[in-house]
Amino acid sequence: MAVIGQDISQAKRILDAGELVAISTETVYGLAGNALNPVAVALIFETKNRPSFDPLIIHVPSLLIAENYVSEIPKPLRRLAEHFWPGPLTLLLPRKNKIPDIVTSGLDRVAVRVPDHRLTLELLSQLDFPLAAPSANPFGYISPTSPQHVDAQLGEKISYILDGGKCKVGLESTIVGMEGDEIVVYRLGGLEISEIESLVGEVKVKSHSSSNPQAPGLLESHYAPTKPFILGDLNDLISAYQSRGVNYAVLSLSQTFSSLPAEKQIALSVNADLKEAATHLFSAMRALDQSNAAVILAELMPEEGLGKAINDRLKRAATKG
Ligand code: TXA
Ligand code: MG
Repeated sequence: MAVIGQDISQAKRILDAGELVAISTETVYGLAGNALNPVAVALIFETKNRPSFDPLIIHVPSLLIAENYVSEIPKPLRRLAEHFWPGPLTLLLPRKNKIPDIVTSGLDRVAVRVPDHRLTLELLSQLDFPLAAPSANPFGYISPTSPQHVDAQLGEKISYILDGGKCKVGLESTIVGMEGDEIVVYRLGGLEISEIESLVGEVKVKSHSSSNPQAPGLLESHYAPTKPFILGDLNDLISAYQSRGVNYAVLSLSQTFSSLPAEKQIALSVNADLKEAATHLFSAMRALDQSNAAVILAELMPEEGLGKAINDRLKRAATKG
């Protein structure tokens, strides 16, 4: 098991030695290594069992430091950075040569963000390199939103988890770049589209294609529990599975079901608050995946605010066919 603690100098020593530390961010926990050291980056891919065609985000303490690693920041993206960093926003920017190919899978753009977490910002400001960090889960599984989630799955493979408590956003960052004059969102996430548009005008959302080589993390099946995960109208699903005698668990936005024991159901937010629902989503999926139910039944959220990003994750987690 890994040590879970708040010792920034310990984390720094491990990272300086080319090894990995799990870091806390406002979105999800990351599996971090020195982004300028290709051997450390290779270790990230190996530890996560992640295919090397799926590039990594680099984490920096400020916009000023980000400038060291990118050759240009287009005006609208600079406005977004100035306004939303630190925060759940990742920008795709043309990279400088000091970013190794393995970080970007050979692409010309590098993904950059400034995470909004006190401990991790303090760590980043003490390092003389950025941290490459994908979500700290085995490839394809649900992202971790607590140090215990990381420890349960990667604890045997890493020595230290920087403990920042539960993630306050709970969904990965929103990924934004430009194609010509157009602002493109490649992954829906913790920063709402409406917030982006209020600053820079209309954006194009391109996060739906399942085989878009620009954003391989948008693979159709991702963020998935190991149990069958079925989306639909909960009352219909419950009567169907009930009549077949299947042992099921239920994930809802706010509804509770008197016919089901408490450990077999999770309502993400009793007040149907989508921000609160986002915070609880991944830990709820994990908990139900660990219950003794044979299947998980879940419903989509209203397509507004963070509901869009939650639905994106629910659809990717859903069992196909
Ligand atoms: O909130 C987050 O973004 C978290 C925390 C730890 O910062 N990180 C995260 O990383 O979600 P990861 O690796 O699980 O997802 C990163 C996504 C992937 O879908 C990847 O394909 C995309 O970003 N990506 C990274 N670099 C890219 C690039 N150069 N061009 C296009 N897509 C890129
Ligand atoms: Mg991930």
